Amino acid sequence: MIQYENQVFHLATEHTSYIIGIRNERYLENLYYGRKVHTRVTNTALQEKFGTGYGNSTVCPEDTTMTLDNLCMEYSFGGNGDYRHSPLEMQMPDYSYSNRFYYKEHEIYEGEYRDSKKTKMPYVRCSQEGEQTSTLEIILEDWLYSVELKLIYTVLPSCDVITRRTVITNKGTESIQLNRIMSMQLDLPESDYYMETFDGAWTRERHVNRKKLESGLYVNESTTGSSSNRHNPLILLTKENCTENAGSCYGINLIYSGNHYEAVEVTPYEKIRIMTGINPYQFEWELGQDETFFTPEAVLTYSHKGRQGVSSQFATFVNQYIVPKQWQGTERPVLINNWEATYFDFTEKKLLKLAKEAASLGVELFVLDDGWFGKRESDTSSLGDWFVNEKKLGGSLNQLAAKINNLGMKFGLWIEPEMISENSELYRKHPDWAVRIPKREDYIGRNQYVLDLTREEVRDTVVQMILNVLHGANIEYVKWDMNRHLSDAYSASLGKRQGEFYHRYILGVYDMMERITKACPKILFESCSAGGNRFDLGMLYYMPQIWTSDDTDANERVEIQEGTSYGYPLSTMGAHVSAVPNHQTLRNIGLENRFHIACFGVLGYELDVTKLSTADKRIVKNQIAFYKEHRKLFQYGNFKGERMHNGNIIWQVVSEDKKEAIVMCYQRLQRANSSSDVLKVKGLDADSLYHVQARKQSISIKQFGDLVNQASPVPIKDEGIMQTIVNKVYMLDSEEESYELYGDMLEYAGFKLKQQFVGTGYTGDTRVMGDFATRIYTITKKEGF
Ligand code: DGJ
Repeated sequence: MIQYENQVFHLATEHTSYIIGIRNERYLENLYYGRKVHTRVTNTALQEKFGTGYGNSTVCPEDTTMTLDNLCMEYSFGGNGDYRHSPLEMQMPDYSYSNRFYYKEHEIYEGEYRDSKKTKMPYVRCSQEGEQTSTLEIILEDWLYSVELKLIYTVLPSCDVITRRTVITNKGTESIQLNRIMSMQLDLPESDYYMETFDGAWTRERHVNRKKLESGLYVNESTTGSSSNRHNPLILLTKENCTENAGSCYGINLIYSGNHYEAVEVTPYEKIRIMTGINPYQFEWELGQDETFFTPEAVLTYSHKGRQGVSSQFATFVNQYIVPKQWQGTERPVLINNWEATYFDFTEKKLLKLAKEAASLGVELFVLDDGWFGKRESDTSSLGDWFVNEKKLGGSLNQLAAKINNLGMKFGLWIEPEMISENSELYRKHPDWAVRIPKREDYIGRNQYVLDLTREEVRDTVVQMILNVLHGANIEYVKWDMNRHLSDAYSASLGKRQGEFYHRYILGVYDMMERITKACPKILFESCSAGGNRFDLGMLYYMPQIWTSDDTDANERVEIQEGTSYGYPLSTMGAHVSAVPNHQTLRNIGLENRFHIACFGVLGYELDVTKLSTADKRIVKNQIAFYKEHRKLFQYGNFKGERMHNGNIIWQVVSEDKKEAIVMCYQRLQRANSSSDVLKVKGLDADSLYHVQARKQSISIKQFGDLVNQASPVPIKDEGIMQTIVNKVYMLDSEEESYELYGDMLEYAGFKLKQQFVGTGYTGDTRVMGDFATRIYTITKKEGF
């Protein structure tokens, strides 16, 4: 809901208020953003007070006691005495960088921003049934040069999200040059915040970093050409006392997949200024007469229920307003991907053997990864040659897909349309389509070049090639990969305007995604960029799930998936069980434990299942059956990550109707004679009775090593033949554990788990854990209690 009264705008969601006042008939002052307050406010109570000025500050021409340097502005502009970090830097026709954007008028209307489509960028998909979405456009104008700056706000009440963006139109006759134009600026009147960012690198994405804000400027950005695995566009701002479940937390994200920039400044007057938008790094945009520049849409949310409040608001937001409509709320198939099973070394026979085994275990989708096209036997060739290597596949893609379908599975395919290999037919035909600087030595990545997607003819050719492939066989899933960062950004078509390259590149990517996904609405697309290098809202707009990380080590995944969950729901996170020793870390984690981490997301298997022992195949079959039974909960349940008193990790998902939950505990390292584990589950119905049941899992006798001889009638040598044979077919069942508790007991008292193995003996009731160990418990509401 958006109200305007007495020069005050009140934007209200179900639990938050955002209030803006018009000051001196020209400035927009942010009066409040936070927990919901009454709609009727007097402008003056919340206004900044100015009395006798501030020493050597620059003051306003219409009020010499007032300095913009200490005003919570909605959007600052150049040359006005506001010396804080600026959201806008543009060169005016007089070559100065000063401008005067004053309030002119506004408009409030139902629904989303009416020019959303014109932006050629992904945006919030409104028009939900019964949703009271509304939009506010505030128009500011620099009348000297007829430049119009629009601040656009869209309010999504049910998920407590407000989106913002800035749109600039040059209505004058002379060109202006944009050097920086942020999607939004938010000034808050207090500065005692922590900033939380989600940082990392390849195979180490989105680890949470929390820093206390002191005086100065804190930047979170990417310059790699994509949203990057280094710094996700998501940031949180929390107060000192903010915990997972209580306290003030702001969440900010950007619907953009290119170079992004978020900055938080603690100002000299102890306020904070937050901004997000396109990174000004190597950015310049010339805006001619009657031209408009749209910034990407920024997303804001606030919760007084701590980080998990924000996390669950963002989860609802992504599931309902970002992912393509046809995939909203749909259960995603369990897949097998051949990448870590074969890498480039496969034949039709090998693939079918893998598929057959996977089908017998309950897998629903077979994904053929890199290496099926051109002459690609390694990462040194063929990107751009999007036609099938029939020799390698023993026939057409259509035939292979049909054979997979005959096994009762869907068929999916890997592509990397944004790239070109030097050793490819496409490159030999169009060497100038590769992004590089003429006459310079190249700095490249993974032996490949990025295609110049700023050019329409390049996009047209690639789209056509890809559609030929996708229409040529029964393909029901596509993994769209992108395996390198951009470097030497340059397009032969841009001449002097190379400052537009990065943004035009990502607009080109969006154009291709729009065309390909629209032409194949039934194909489930999964975005990927060397794992999670492009895990952002822009990608999710086209593709409802993303390969979270190339790191499939369950222990590493705990950090990666938990970090990701603050901004993105479980339904978006691809999570696979892979072989041990793990291919990224060489770590050895038990099969059940690998599964327990991977099932909090969209489950897949990425290993040679034909090589599993009989016992392991039985385990995988049970895992898949269990996942299918609880899939809705694992993909769409409300997720929370917590810590036990002893540091052990708890993950839980609760269904929307609170009838079902699943909770997992994860012990990173076994401690000798360990303390008891207490499992608390939040968010259930306090007055309902629940049945708690431990998932029966298999324990390998190998875990006992030599100790097994204390019980075995025949001697079994650790790592010996006997142990290997027994372990192949026989596993111990985990302890049985079940309770009945009310929702309030589960939340406040929790339940104590059975004693762990501590070296004093073993009975069927002993909880054998060890390092990197997990247990899962299902929680079901008992009707009639
Ligand atoms: C990087 C992806 O993240 C992997 O899963 C795999 O698809 C390779 N690319 C293939 O080149």
